[in-house]
Amino acid sequence: MGKVVFSLLLALPLVTLGASADKKCVLSGSWRNELGSNMTISAVNAEGGFTGSYFTAVTATNKRILVSPLKGSQNSKSQRKQPTFGFTVSWTFSNSVTVFVGQCFMDDNGEESLKTMWLLRQEVGSPFADWKATRVGTNVFTRIKGQNMRESMRSDSAR
Ligand code: BTN
Repeated sequence: MGKVVFSLLLALPLVTLGASADKKCVLSGSWRNELGSNMTISAVNAEGGFTGSYFTAVTATNKRILVSPLKGSQNSKSQRKQPTFGFTVSWTFSNSVTVFVGQCFMDDNGEESLKTMWLLRQEVGSPFADWKATRVGTNVFTRIKGQNMRESMRSDSAR
């Protein structure tokens, strides 16, 4: 009996490791980045398209921050384990737009993260100011757990 229990205990990490090796990184759900910004991504459709909402923690303006819509697509030609994606946030409280590109990663513990790079385009008054109109940066998002889609959509829109 003791031997059986011992063998089961030895096998357990292999089973859990095997399970996380199969798991795919899924874009839909709620995410938070290192700045404290939150976003919720809806289900990804058959063509790879998705929509969602973004609540940024920071702004380059002096405006009051509001929730903004996002629209994007995932490369889903084949259902990849760690898919690439892009999305655009059209800010409701400023005249700017941010485009994000990235990849959804799944680590050995089954933890997902979105590694992204972004370009934030601000409106300027003339082409002479074009040189200062675009900011660039990176963000890493991790999944906000214990919140279902309906709850996160509701808390985003209440802000
Ligand atoms: C603006 O300031 O005009 C709109 C908000 C921009 C927020 C940027 S987008 C890239 C970076 N990542 C975030 O989560 N927030 C900032």
